Amino acid sequence: MWRATVLTLFPEMFPGPLGLSLSGDALSRGVWELETRQIREHGLGRHRAVDDTPAGGGPGMVMRADVLAAAIDAAALDDERPRLLMSPRGTPLTQARIRQLVAGGGAIVVCGRFEGVDQRVIEARALEEVSIGDYVLSGGEIAALALIDACVRLLPGVMGEEASGHEESFEATLLEYPHYTRPRDFEGRVIPDVLLCGDHAKIAQWRHEQALRLTRERRPDLLAADRKTRD
Ligand code: ADE
Repeated sequence: MWRATVLTLFPEMFPGPLGLSLSGDALSRGVWELETRQIREHGLGRHRAVDDTPAGGGPGMVMRADVLAAAIDAAALDDERPRLLMSPRGTPLTQARIRQLVAGGGAIVVCGRFEGVDQRVIEARALEEVSIGDYVLSGGEIAALALIDACVRLLPGVMGEEASGHEESFEATLLEYPHYTRPRDFEGRVIPDVLLCGDHAKIAQWRHEQALRLTRERRPDLLAADRKTRD
């Protein structure tokens, strides 16, 4: 079974949205498993401290290497799953990496808080830093939810329509074409005639043109990347 283990100071944030809808149904059906571990259980002293002031000075607090290492060892000793650290300075997450994580049987996901995590535990426990985008969240939990959601929806038996896993954005390196449904006339905006003409080849061509146009407008970097992999 695909299994996510999340190390966090806020286990109450889980399963959160992952407990609803498709991922929630799959969770209750035992298609995947979610385990949360409270990092603070390995905190030090009467106050179970997990952080301290940064060496060299500066603002904020840094998560201690010894505390986080103890939490990781308690949760994941002799565990072959990839160990991810959610961090805005990580490698950008891609659909390709999500597919690898799905195939790999699960993930151990560490959620950072404070200004950062002591560099030595990142190295000593071989944590792979992963970012979900060029913006800063107040902690790794929401990033972890996003990552796990992207994995779970690809597990066999989670998505309604089998085909939906493939044709979408990024799978084909193009953004998705625009969608329409009833009514035909919404506030004077009508469904493009081509979609109602019944000619499936023509419809497929129109959708491809639209996908190309949107990708050119919004994500020209995707077209450039695609050209590079084909060259
Ligand atoms: N933690 C804070 N910001 C983040 C981001 N953009 N991606 C992953 N983890 C984060």
